[in-house]
Formats: sequence, C-alpha cells, structure tokens
Amino acid sequence: MKVDVLLGLQWGDEGKGKIVDVLTPEYDYIARFQGGPNAGHTLEFDQKKFVLHTIPSGIFRDNVLNVIGNGVVIDPVVLKIEIEKLIAVGIPVKERLIFSKKAHLILPSHRLLDAASETAKGKNKIGSTLKGIGPTYMDKTGRNGLRVGDILEPDFKAKYDALVEKHVGILKHFEGFEFDLSELEGPWMEGIEFMRQFTIVDSEHYINKVLKSGKSVLAEGAQGTMLDIDFGTYPFVTSSNTITAGTCTGLGVAPTKIGKVIGIFKAYCTRVGSGPFPTELLDEVGEKIRQEGREFGSTTGRPRRCGWIDIPQLKYAIMINGVTELSMMKADILSVFDTIRICTHYNVNGNITDEFPFSICDQSIEPIYKDVSGWNCDLTELNSYDNAPKELKQYVSLLEELLEVPITIVSVGPDRSQTLITKH
Ligand code: GDP
Ligand code: IMO
Ligand code: MG
Repeated sequence: MKVDVLLGLQWGDEGKGKIVDVLTPEYDYIARFQGGPNAGHTLEFDQKKFVLHTIPSGIFRDNVLNVIGNGVVIDPVVLKIEIEKLIAVGIPVKERLIFSKKAHLILPSHRLLDAASETAKGKNKIGSTLKGIGPTYMDKTGRNGLRVGDILEPDFKAKYDALVEKHVGILKHFEGFEFDLSELEGPWMEGIEFMRQFTIVDSEHYINKVLKSGKSVLAEGAQGTMLDIDFGTYPFVTSSNTITAGTCTGLGVAPTKIGKVIGIFKAYCTRVGSGPFPTELLDEVGEKIRQEGREFGSTTGRPRRCGWIDIPQLKYAIMINGVTELSMMKADILSVFDTIRICTHYNVNGNITDEFPFSICDQSIEPIYKDVSGWNCDLTELNSYDNAPKELKQYVSLLEELLEVPITIVSVGPDRSQTLITKH
C-alpha cells in the first residue's frame, strides 16, 4: 500500500483537521509528519468541537491508530493537557496513539528562546506562535536535540541538563530578557513521565511494515505550503517542510510509496502572523470575510488576515506537492458576496505572470482579478453537490480549469456532516 497525504496549500488553517476526520474511516492509520503545537486543527461533530495541536485528527474514530512521526516536535506539557482533555471525554487515547522514538522534544527553554528571538526581531518579527518550534528544529539540525527515545534512557536527565545549560548561555545574550526556567521545569518533567506510559516505537520500521501488510495510511500535514521552510514566503515561514516531501522525511517512507496527494484550500485565503500576502484585503471586505469566517487563530486566537483566492499561489503549491485532488473549504462564507474575485495573475513591476516570484517580500505585487457572480444563498444545509447553486458549480469548474486538478470535496460548514463530495 501507499501513503496518501493531505496537506494545506495556503498559509495554514485551511481546514485540514476537518477533512482528515471526514476521511479517517477510509484508513487504518493517520500520521502526523511535521510541525508541532504551533498547529491547531479543529474538528466538529455531534455538536462538539475539538482543537488538536499534536495529536493526529484520526483520534476520535474507532479502529484507527494514530502515529506521531519522527518529523514532529512535541511539547510534553501541551501534549499532556491535550491527551487529558480527550481522555476526559472518553477517548481511549493510550490504545490509539503511537510515538516515534525519533520525534524531537520541545524544552521549556526552547519556548523562552522563541520568545527572546521574536522580541529581538522587533518590527521584523515572524509572528511565531511562540511554542518553541523554531529553536527546537534549530537544535535538531544543529545536532543538539533531545528525542522521544532519549526519555527511555538512563542518562536522559544529564542530556536534558546539558542542553538547558547551552540554552541559558544563549538566553543571557538577549539583553533585558528576563526568565524563570525553574517554574516551567516541573510541569515539563511531569509531561515526560506521562509520555513514558505510551507506545514508543521505531516508527519508520513500524509504518513500512504496516504498508507491507496491506494497511492504509493517511499522512496529515500541519501548517501550509506557503509556510514551508524551503518554498514558503521565507523568512516568514515555519521551520519544517510542510510539503509532500516532508512526508518522506517525517515518517520514513520512500517517495515511491506516496499515493494520492490531497491539497486543501479555502475558497478565499487567510494568513496569520507576519509576511507577504498578495491578495490581502485591508478594507471592509477583508473584515467581512474575517467576521463571517470567524477567522481567528485556533492556537493563538489572533485575528487572521483575509483576502481573495490566489491562483498563482495555489498553482505553485500544487506543483511543489504533486497534488492529485483538491478539497475546497468554507464555500459557505462567500455566500454573503454578490461578486467574488479570483486573482488569476500578478503584475510584478509591469510583468504579467501567473508564476509565484522568488522575492515576494521585496517586490510590489499587484493582483489581477477576474470577477465572478456569487451564489448569495445559504449552503450550510446542502446535502448533495447536485443541489448546489449553479454559481457555486461555476466557481468550482473555473478553479478546476485554472488549477488543472479536480476538486473532489466542497466543504460548506465546520461540521463533519457539512461536506459535499463532487465526484467519486
Ligand atoms: P486547520 O489548521 O487546517 O485544521 O484549520 P483550523 O482548524 O485552524 O481552521 C479552520 C476553521 O474553519 C475551523 O474553525 C473549522 O471548524 C472551520 N471550518 C472548516 N471547514 C469549514 C467550512 O467549510 N465552513 C465553515 N464555515 N467553517 C469551516
Ligand atoms: P495549522 O496546522 C497558521 C505561522 C505563525 C507564524 C509562522 C511561524 O493550524 O494550519 P512558528 O510558531 O511555526 O515558528 O510560526 O507560521 N503558523 C501557522 N499559521 N496555521 C498554522 O498551523 C501555523 N503554524 C505556524 O503564525 O506566522
Ligand atoms: Mg489551524
């Protein structure tokens, strides 16, 4: 069997959690392959709402196992709180969750370093979620990191102390940055103790055996393609590879083992944190999208920046990821507009292009729009794509034509049930 991949094509928060949950019954395993608690994946069903940060979005379904792969970074404090909340509502997390020995640990001092570094950047700050993601991946590539497998070794505490000592040395260079590490360490060690009760495996062997035995795996991306460390709007990006290739390095599966790649995008576009955003609307239209779409961060509560859909950006993401099918989210939010705008090209210093340019941060990009008619009616009660208004079908067909990939799912509300399958 091959690993199917579901990932975000924009700047995150596309609705990955919802669609992974919808698709989970088709799979035996759901696996996260990168990112950490900077993610906030929302699921809604049976009048209940959950936001997951580290746990894969398959956790609510029976007969499905969830893997946290080697490419993920884990904060034991956030993890323990998340798991305890799930256990409190009756989810047998221990029986459904598996950790990779090679996943890296976020230390309390990584969070302090994240905060210190952001403060020092001043107006150039990334808008990090301050979860310690950047410093943890820096220690991974710097070959200093602590991994989940280390917590099972007798010298774990000594390794921890050595790394913290390094961090404290660095923190002292940030003038005026005050911190008290001691109060953060107790809950972190409790989190480590908690993690020891779970199944911890050599996940690359595990996943490959699973595939060999004919079981199916869906890899769940976090963040989005435009936040990818290599291909995103650098330096305003996260610190991992959020793209399909990240599945190979983040789970230990070969490129030849990748099956379907499901790319997910909003019917418009949002971004949270700093950095360029060509179609951003700083006017009342942007505000209307934010209010209608409840566009406030699932992890930090920050207002998300909103704009129209951006075809050059999506084409770029589709190319980098090898997307084979698309899910379009939050179509219901655009119901309030008589006219919907689609950015088909950019005007970059007089050049008309549909290619995403290298230096988006420094160049002035003027979006070129095509206007189409809105559907102006409530979609949230729709139970079949056949009954969708013709303007919505036209919007979907036009996007398929521009993006050259079929849209197989159209989402019309946050609930699991508000999901239209356009083609099987
Ligand atoms: P993720 O990080 O990609 O999983 O996305 P988030 O959970 O951060 O943000 C998506 C938000 O949109 C959540 O609040 C979802 O409940 C909500 N959502 C997902 N799909 C739809 C949809 O089709 N319509 C509406 N109105 N909300 C949706
Ligand atoms: P999900 O999985 C949206 C953004 C942050 C910041 C930048 C770097 O829910 O889609 P980091 O904490 O990673 O160092 O922050 O990336 N960011 C996200 N934006 N959704 C996310 O995750 C994000 N994870 C990180 O806002 O701009
Ligand atoms: Mg999110």
